[in-house]
Amino acid sequence: MIILGICGSLRKDSFNLKLLRAAENFLPEGVGLEPLNCGELPLYNEDLDGAAKPEPVERMMEALRTCDALLFATPEYNHSIPGVLKNAIDWASRPAYESLLARKPAGILSASKSFVGGARVQAHLHQVLDSTLTSIYPEPEFLVPQAADKFDAHGNLKDPDTTRRLQKFLYGFVIWAGRMRSSASNRLKNM
Ligand code: FNR
Repeated sequence: MIILGICGSLRKDSFNLKLLRAAENFLPEGVGLEPLNCGELPLYNEDLDGAAKPEPVERMMEALRTCDALLFATPEYNHSIPGVLKNAIDWASRPAYESLLARKPAGILSASKSFVGGARVQAHLHQVLDSTLTSIYPEPEFLVPQAADKFDAHGNLKDPDTTRRLQKFLYGFVIWAGRMRSSASNRLKNM
């Protein structure tokens, strides 16, 4: 299984990027996490969204085509989704309801410096991914509040409670995503 890791922050020392790296260490054998670079995508412009798309968009589309699941890790910017992440979703979202995001299993993680841990960005991301018919892991949100206290100087997750919760989230997510993929391919075979 290949999981595409989508970080909503371009910051070099991003806590969300560190969270994705921590997640990679906890995945079972046979499951890999590949990072998507949202920073190289141009701003969405429908004039550029034809049969041939800008090179970085084509690369993202190929990554979306070949992955089995998505794992978002995003900060909350002004109570909502960072522009860089919304931009990536807008590119990936066409054609409407039939895009590569439709029915793709997705998990959402968020880390923020505040006490709420990105609860509001999670709600907004759910709403946006509902529009793309993406299947979202139906478990309580995985939030990391006060993220600056949860990682050591080398960027490793050091907080035992966050570590335990992340392992539990990923364990359930991988099983669920695998089931979603096989039921989707069975549906296709029977059509
Ligand atoms: C923030 N931050 C923030 N935090 C939060 O919990 N709610 C919010 O609405 C915002 N808004 C916001 C806007 C902007 C423009 C910035 C730069 C930051 C703080 C945010 O949680 C913090 O900077 C995180 O460290 C960002 O995530 P990364 O880059 O560490 O992954």
